[in-house]
Parts: sequence; structure tokens; C-alpha cells
Amino acid sequence: MPKVSFPTLEHLATAVILLDDESRVAYLNPASEHLFGLSSSNLIGHPLQHAFTHTEQLFNTIQSALASHASHIEHELLLGTHSLGYKLHLSCTATPLHLEHDALLLEFHTIDRPLKLAREEQMLDQTQANRLLLRNLAHEIKNPLGGIRGAAQLLEQELDKPGLREYTQVVIQEADRLRSLMEKLLTPQHAPHFSALNIHEVLERVRSVVMAELPEGLLIRRDYDLSLPELHGDKEQLIQVVLNIVRNAAQAMQGKGQIVLRTRITRQVTLMKKLHRLAIAVQIIDNGPGIPGHLRDKIFYPLVSGRADGHGLGLTLAQDFVSQHQGSIEFESEPGRTCFTVMLPLPHLGK
Ligand SMILES: Nc1ncnc2c1ncn2[C@@H]1O[C@H](COP(=O)(O)OP(=O)(O)OP(=O)(O)O)[C@@H](O)[C@H]1O
Ligand SMILES: [Mg+2]
Repeated sequence: MPKVSFPTLEHLATAVILLDDESRVAYLNPASEHLFGLSSSNLIGHPLQHAFTHTEQLFNTIQSALASHASHIEHELLLGTHSLGYKLHLSCTATPLHLEHDALLLEFHTIDRPLKLAREEQMLDQTQANRLLLRNLAHEIKNPLGGIRGAAQLLEQELDKPGLREYTQVVIQEADRLRSLMEKLLTPQHAPHFSALNIHEVLERVRSVVMAELPEGLLIRRDYDLSLPELHGDKEQLIQVVLNIVRNAAQAMQGKGQIVLRTRITRQVTLMKKLHRLAIAVQIIDNGPGIPGHLRDKIFYPLVSGRADGHGLGLTLAQDFVSQHQGSIEFESEPGRTCFTVMLPLPHLGK
């Protein structure tokens, strides 16, 4: 079949693949490239096995459609690709078409997506409610702390026995520690300052800060797509987002291991209920021990920490800042590989 193009399918959010009469890929749309992490130029003219793994269910679906000369829907299908490294949970519709030559249209939908969106939305609501409660509580705690500290200082001046100062020092130091925690809970609420910026400036700044903090044993590798356009964002906030995620990775690996900072363009992504044609995906991938199972559902909640000296605020703040950019943060984690993906929408530039 000659090279085909379907301008209308280019803008579709549904992933679509067209097979020719010899079951080779004749066309795949950008949503499909994005979903499977494939480039059409590498796949067109090849059979599906060229890029896909775990294809048994997909081939059964195709066979059923061809045998019945009608659409066949498989509601639950697992499909992987050589590049993704994990399997996608999909529903697939196969439809035989009679164009100039016989062809077969495949449409894919991820099954996790609606569930995931509903979960994200619920989590965002809950996190916002928690945060308000915490801010009010922090405010209430911070005020009397000043009084407690001041009284301990006065008391210390009146003490005859120097040995007793140890106790007033405990009061003062603990009051200071609590105050710094409360300040972290109360800050920073300034409105973001948006300007055009290159995401790689953000990543390079984080890289140099973290390398200075943990110079030995930590390798930070860059895998940048330097052709990415500028985005519209608050540079300081985005630095804080990436810094919090990278610091977590470095801490989880106890300063020894590898972190990859990756940037890619993605197409047709839904972020905060809005479909964006283009977004930047920033991935922070570490080869540390992974996020402990019991924390996975809650790491974005305030005060949830797996570290003895952690405040559990780094990811809460990161999520706050990213949602101010209409973006999202997601993660996948298993022992040996944790990947945080920050999606930031790009302004719509028109044609
Ligand atoms: N890359 C990672 N690998 C393993 N565990 C992680 C990773 N990132 C986050 N975590 C877990 O998630 C928890 C929450 O992270 P978060 O940044 O919100 O708080 P924290 O690091 O504990 O404290 P803070 O950032 O406020 O100092 C961490 O304590 C850690 O247990
Ligand atoms: Mg942290």
C-alpha cells in the first residue's frame, strides 16, 4: 500500500494504527506515537512485531475482526513495546476496512486512564483540604511558640545552677525546630511569576546544586531533547519542583547511584482535565531502592515521610507548584528504578 496520511486523524486523542493488506503498518497517528513511545518513521512498512511485544491478544483480536468481517472489540488487552519496558493495559477495536486495498484499523484506549484521572482529582481535592487545615494549625502553633521560647530564655537568665541550662536549651532548641517546621508549612504562598524559560536551565541549576551537596558517588546523567521549545513558567518554582524530586532520589540512594534527567516532547496529553496538543515531559529516574510500598498512595500528602529526618513536605510543595503550571506529577517505582514524570503544557502556538 502506498504511504498514506489522514490529516483528521492527526488531531485525534485516540491512538490509531492502520494495517495494510499484508498486515504491515501503513499509518499511525501522533496519539499512537505518544501512547506507545514510537516514531512512525521507524514502524511504517513493518509488521507489528517490529515494535510490539506481548502481541498474542492483539493478534487474536485482529483475527476475529478479519474472520467476521466486522469490528471486534477486546476490552482488556496487555501490550508492550520494545522501548517502553512495561506493558500497557488497553482496550482495542479492530475494524476491517475496504479502501483501495483491504486494510485494518486499530483503535486503542488506555484502561487505566479514567480511573487514574478520577483518583488524581480526588487526591488533589483531599490534598488541598489537608493543606488548608495544616496551614491553620501551623499558624495557631507558631504564635504561642514565640512565647514559650521567650519565657525559657528569661528563665535561663535567672538560673543559678549552670547545669539547669541544659533543660532550658532543650526547650529553646525544640521551639526553634518546631518554628522552622511551621514556617515550612506556611510558606511560600507568593503568586507565581511566569516568563518564557528553557526547561534545561532549570535542570542544569538543580544539577549543580545537588552535585555541590553530594559530590561523591552520585552520577547525574543528562538525556535532554535540546530542540524543545520554551515554556511559560515560574523559574524559581520549577527549580524547587525538580530539586525536591532529585533530592529525594539522592537521599533514597544515600548519595550513591545514578540519576537521569530526561526531557521529551509529548503530544495530546490531558492535564488537569484539559487536552493539550503539546507538553514537555521531564523525567527524573533513579536506580535506588524504590518508594516503600506502604507510602506509594500517600507520598504527595503533607507530612508523609519515609525518612527519620524528613518533613514530608517536598512532594506536597512540588505538586502545588506543578498544578499552578496546569501540569501533573506522576511516578512509577520498583526496586532499582523510580521514575517521576513532571508534565508541563506548552502554549498553543497555532499552525
Ligand atoms: N526517588 C525516591 N526513592 C525512594 N523513596 C522516595 C523517592 N522519592 C520520594 N520517596 C519517599 O517519599 C517520601 C516523601 O517525600 P517528600 O519529599 O514529600 O518528603 P521528605 O523527603 O520525607 O521530607 P522533605 O522533602 O520535606 O524534607 C520520602 O520520605 C521517601 O520515603
Ligand atoms: Mg523530600
